[in-house]
Amino acid sequence: MSAPPPPVADRADPLLLTEPGPGAARCLGLYAKLAAGVTVVTARGEDGPLGMTVSAVTSLSARPPLLLACLRDGSRTLAAARARRAFAVHLLREEQRELAARFASPAATAAERFAGAGTRQVLGVPVLPGALAWSVCLTEDIRRYGDHHLVVGRVAAVHVGGGRPLLWHDRRFRGLAESLPDGTG
Ligand SMILES: Cc1cc2nc3c(=O)[nH]c(=O)nc-3n(C[C@H](O)[C@H](O)[C@H](O)COP(=O)(O)O)c2cc1C
Repeated sequence: MSAPPPPVADRADPLLLTEPGPGAARCLGLYAKLAAGVTVVTARGEDGPLGMTVSAVTSLSARPPLLLACLRDGSRTLAAARARRAFAVHLLREEQRELAARFASPAATAAERFAGAGTRQVLGVPVLPGALAWSVCLTEDIRRYGDHHLVVGRVAAVHVGGGRPLLWHDRRFRGLAESLPDGTG
């Protein structure tokens, strides 16, 4: 019988283990090259709806249906998703740049972010109109990694609409260059 493989850390190039890392600035340069869909994550706070723009959202599992979002440490939306055990993820359309910028602005209060948006409650979570698609999730797990928290949500309600996605790449909002098949764009 062959011996079990050594732990991953023992197999890594020794240089990788002893060299100092590339540093946050270079890593941020790498992250900027990750093209991502833009979302707004919302949750119900004690004094009203809370929400923020988030591009670090990923599908995690189909059975059970799980989504993953990475929210910065100290975020009030994160605190509400933890306290209320629920949050919503809205995939934005290309026309929603202004909304994305507003929900990312540190200067904008929660009330200013939601002003005129016309939210409704789904499973007790504020849902914004006009998204490409949205999902209300029950908070399944929250784990801190560095300066962000990995938030896993179990999809409890879903709406899939139509339109073209808003993208974030190289620190800019962008749209898809390619046309979409009829009925999806
Ligand atoms: C396009 C874009 C994507 C963003 N993605 C994330 C993200 O994935 N996670 C995160 O914590 N903040 C992200 N931010 C930053 C937050 O939206 C921003 O810090 C916001 O002010 C946080 O709201 P809060 O102060 O209410 O927590 C993103 C901002 C922009 C413009």
